[in-house]
Amino acid sequence: MCGIVGYLGEQEAFPIIIKGLKRLEYRGYDSAGIALMNGSLSVYKKQGKVSDLEEFMGDANVKSTVGIGHTRWATHGEPNDTNAHPHFSADRKLVMIHNGIIENYAVLKQKLILRGHEFISDTDTEVFIHFIEQIQIDNQCELEEAVRIALTEVIGAYAIIVISAENPKQLIAARKSSPLVIGVGRNSQEFFLASDATPIIEYTQDVVYLNDHEIAVIKPNSLQIKDIGNKPTTPYVTHLEMELESIEKGGFDSFMLKEIHEQPNSVHDCMRGRLNAETGHLQLGGINKYLEHLLNSQRIIMLGCGTSWHAGLVAEYIFEELARIPVEVEYASEFRYRNPIVHAKDSFIAISQSGETADTLAAIELAKKEGGTIFGVCNVVGSSIARTTHEGAYTHAGPEIGVASTKAFTAQVTVLTMMALMIGRKRGNISDTQFSELLYELETIPAKIEKILQLNDHIKDIASEMQHAENALYLGRGYNFPVALEGALKLKEISYIHAEGYPAAEMKHGPIALIDEAMPVLFIAIKDNSYEKIVSNIQEVKARKGRVIAIVTEGDDLIPKMADYVIEVPATYDVLTPLLTVIPFQLLSYHIAIMRGCNVDQPRNLAKSVTVE
Ligand code: G6P
Repeated sequence: MCGIVGYLGEQEAFPIIIKGLKRLEYRGYDSAGIALMNGSLSVYKKQGKVSDLEEFMGDANVKSTVGIGHTRWATHGEPNDTNAHPHFSADRKLVMIHNGIIENYAVLKQKLILRGHEFISDTDTEVFIHFIEQIQIDNQCELEEAVRIALTEVIGAYAIIVISAENPKQLIAARKSSPLVIGVGRNSQEFFLASDATPIIEYTQDVVYLNDHEIAVIKPNSLQIKDIGNKPTTPYVTHLEMELESIEKGGFDSFMLKEIHEQPNSVHDCMRGRLNAETGHLQLGGINKYLEHLLNSQRIIMLGCGTSWHAGLVAEYIFEELARIPVEVEYASEFRYRNPIVHAKDSFIAISQSGETADTLAAIELAKKEGGTIFGVCNVVGSSIARTTHEGAYTHAGPEIGVASTKAFTAQVTVLTMMALMIGRKRGNISDTQFSELLYELETIPAKIEKILQLNDHIKDIASEMQHAENALYLGRGYNFPVALEGALKLKEISYIHAEGYPAAEMKHGPIALIDEAMPVLFIAIKDNSYEKIVSNIQEVKARKGRVIAIVTEGDDLIPKMADYVIEVPATYDVLTPLLTVIPFQLLSYHIAIMRGCNVDQPRNLAKSVTVE
């Protein structure tokens, strides 16, 4: 987490950095800071959002063509002005911004204190820059060499940029396990650095993704990259296809609302060129070399965190139904600390919107070490997970900026459904008719999502009834049990209402004790193979005076007589229902959060991309 930005060139650095930080605020927003090189090093930092920093800076002299900026999600040290980045060395000639965690910072700090260093913040980053400074003194070397030596000794994750007052036309950057992209502008005369490409694409679409253990030395007209063993590498320039409007709000009040409404398009984009019901075509271009391995898997293990883990749970049901391969779904953070039993015929599917989640990355590394074959399902093109997996399929949902994941989830489920269908077909588990019917039905999903989005006003009315709740219970079965978990997560993360998701049948083993007049109970009660059972569960809740909000299939005339509120979704095959039933929950959470005065794009304490453990 934390977002970092840097600029070196001929333009004014300040507006580029501030705008870049605002684009990266989804990564953390508890404090922000900036360092500009204008004769000497000027550093400004402030607790709060980037706009608070701007206000704090007032009409400070910001003339400069070299600078760096940081927006923070606190790890070491509470969010305050002092702990905000950038951090100075002892002689105040070096400054650093850092995204990541230095795990051995306490040991390094003790050693530096014995050498006379004093620290003003509680951060690991301040230790990191003092450490570089001390190495430079001890070795009487250039800054880039001191950075290189330091990197051989620090343990942990980092994307850093360092500036030195003694070398004002130079930025030194490095990464390990935290992302860093370098934009190459106008005839390679200017360089933009950022945690992802969103602050860069306005200026250039040519980027270099720094790899783990690489150091970049950036000067006017020059980008040099070497690894921490001092071996030079040739920068590999990738041309991005990202459009600027895809990272702007486009008339919506928030990114989250925009992204919810983008789903008919994003689900469609995800299938584009891959699926054609008319011709019976279904192919995921990114899964080729290891396709045979996937088809012959004796087990598939899904890895992910948060919403991506929920997509994995949905996929468990879908894969077992269509592909007939046993599936396990693991929290990446749990898997990475287990002593997993991996068979040569296992396949792993790592699911991640950002492609940068530290736990998922670490779980992949472990699975690889144990001999597993890993497929990635990522949204961010060129991200670390996309590059570290053996093969994979992008979700093509476009940038997701709202912290609460919406369109990434439906795109993940769409890709995973296509994968399961492809495997099932090739393994002979699905008949021609079933395959063709499912392809045709998948093509109708975007229009069906559009129809649900038109229920916005009705959902807003329900939100108004629910807005003062302190707890909520989400219940579903089968394919829609994970949707209940996802619905509860959406409510928790943006409205701060405590919510739990449960398989509906488990209600009687505990949660039923919580039900009273004040407790909204949200059911996914569509006409699938567990419909009758869900109807009984609704009756059990009503008998205890719970308030029932039910997502039902269009035309259902039974549940509307029992429930307090219903939201209708179009009928589809059971296996595809999660793509529809999740939409009302996204809108409901959005409206409740807005009614409670919450910032839906930047909920407290959360970050979009969790690049620390
Ligand atoms: C954070 C985000 C969630 C996301 C999770 C996993 O917690 O706030 O929205 O689901 O990380 O992120 P990933 O990028 O790996 O999908």
